[in-house]
Amino acid sequence: MGRAHNFNAGPSALPLEVLRRAQAELIDYQGTGMSVMELSHRSETYEAIHRSAQDRLRRLLGVPDNYRVLFLQGGASLQFAMLPMNYLSRDAAAAYVLTGSWSEKAAQEARRFGRVQLDSQAKEDGYKTIPEMLDGEALAGASYVHITSNNTIYGTQWHAFPTTQIPLVADMSSDIMSHEVDVEQFHMIYAGAQKNLGPSGVTVVIVRDEWLQQANQDIPTMLQYGVHAKADSLYNTPPTFAIYLMDLVLEWIEEQGGLTAIASRNAEKSGLIYSVIDEYPDLFDGHAAKSARSHMNVTFRLPSDEQSKEFLAQAKALGFVGVKGHRSVGGCRVSLYNAVPVESAARFAEFMRDYARKSR
Ligand SMILES: Cc1ncc(COP(=O)(O)O)c(C=O)c1O
Repeated sequence: MGRAHNFNAGPSALPLEVLRRAQAELIDYQGTGMSVMELSHRSETYEAIHRSAQDRLRRLLGVPDNYRVLFLQGGASLQFAMLPMNYLSRDAAAAYVLTGSWSEKAAQEARRFGRVQLDSQAKEDGYKTIPEMLDGEALAGASYVHITSNNTIYGTQWHAFPTTQIPLVADMSSDIMSHEVDVEQFHMIYAGAQKNLGPSGVTVVIVRDEWLQQANQDIPTMLQYGVHAKADSLYNTPPTFAIYLMDLVLEWIEEQGGLTAIASRNAEKSGLIYSVIDEYPDLFDGHAAKSARSHMNVTFRLPSDEQSKEFLAQAKALGFVGVKGHRSVGGCRVSLYNAVPVESAARFAEFMRDYARKSR
């Protein structure tokens, strides 16, 4: 059986063990005579899956009791709008730390609902860095401050989160569950599932109880965090199959040894690629400043577009999938989410080294 070396940026690799388990359970889930997709979302069998996914997520991330874990739809992109709809008003301001295209999109949505104050330090650096300290002017009077923990397109990542008295919200779509975080630093964390948590279709929101009480209720029912919290994410039909697969992925993470083990594996994988970039700096031009390098998305360019193209063609011919950089940045991007085996990263590093030796 052929499994690709899958470096897609999302949707992306899922653990083979999870796919096998889902395959085995597909037609008759635990003796019900039906697949998870065919279960009622009000059945005890489905409710057990729903609870299991919430419990595992809580255990793995160490989510404190005063936070709610919600399973929503609409992707992280809907969160760009839901967050300001719930927590921003016309006469108030929110601070957005621009560290890449996704944070720009989040800020753009917030502008529809109130004033937006930008921390543009990383933007001024061509999105190669992460701010060492937040810009005080941007924070002044803000109802919340929004960061993007990992910048999927530029390949930069926050390695220490900012401390601030203002409610901190993070889009963790591309690095949630890749390392430990202190949830208490945040009022809210949100993430689309399709990189580290499972397939697309479910969005995880982790939010502080006391902040839920302060949310705006004069918005459509389906866009109120409070409604979903009260109904335990069963206000309407949830994406049941995606949540089931997420539960299996979370179980797999537990079997790997949890987030400490996963984080060291992720550092090993990205280290394999960054070390080739550092060995051949004239050939591989890493985009991110060293201090801001992402363990999830490694981005680099070759000296010319022609050479990037040729390198990508060779990579493709060898069975490496998804290496082309995002269209807005160009060059190459290797995404190394949790389910990408060390073996795939090692093979790719070997290919880069071979390519470098041959092009001398
Ligand atoms: C950091 C980040 N935020 C938001 C999004 C958008 O997510 P979705 O497609 O789930 O709306 C992405 C998608 O790649 C992302 O990487």
